Amino acid sequence: LAGLALTALLAYLLGSMPFGIVMARVFGLGDLRQIGSGNIGATNVLRTGNKLAAFLTLVLDAGKGAIAVLTARALAGEDAAQLAGFAAFLGHCFPVWLGFKGGKGVATFLGTLLALSFPVGLAACATWAVMAAVLRYSSLAALTAAALSPLWALALGQSGLTLLSIALAVLVFYRHSANIRRLRDGSEPRIGRKS
Ligand code: G3P
Repeated sequence: LAGLALTALLAYLLGSMPFGIVMARVFGLGDLRQIGSGNIGATNVLRTGNKLAAFLTLVLDAGKGAIAVLTARALAGEDAAQLAGFAAFLGHCFPVWLGFKGGKGVATFLGTLLALSFPVGLAACATWAVMAAVLRYSSLAALTAAALSPLWALALGQSGLTLLSIALAVLVFYRHSANIRRLRDGSEPRIGRKS
């Protein structure tokens, strides 16, 4: 049990690393929390116009979820891997370094799923990409990908992932409540737009 608690703690700390804020600083783009939606994710980094910084944020935020899962799996098996993915996701959304005010978890959710089950993760990424390409709303793409992920888990024979993907989807929706309000009243900016 102590091992699992330690795994969760380390994964949480890894997940709390706010790569969007770091990349915005490294690329001299300013304080990400003062830009666009104020969110610390890749979508908001893209609003600065710096595609490389946004891409690196996406990869690093997804990578921290994946690394938490793969490390925990190698050390302690599948249950620990799921726990670590969940903890990394919580770390991103509620980071201790930022007074627990973190991101919306989308990249970390995708990276976690990819590492837990590559086909399910790929299906979630494809859902995001298709929705984003067609509708040009990052938030709506994320909400759709999150909502469908438990169904992808079931359809792809990964029923062991259903509960976790439901929990992650609920949290993704919770973290997007401001986006959902904006989508409903028509004021949500499309991808790459500032407002
Ligand atoms: O990945 C977060 C995205 O779904 C929404 O981000 O900055 O538009 O609130 P943002």
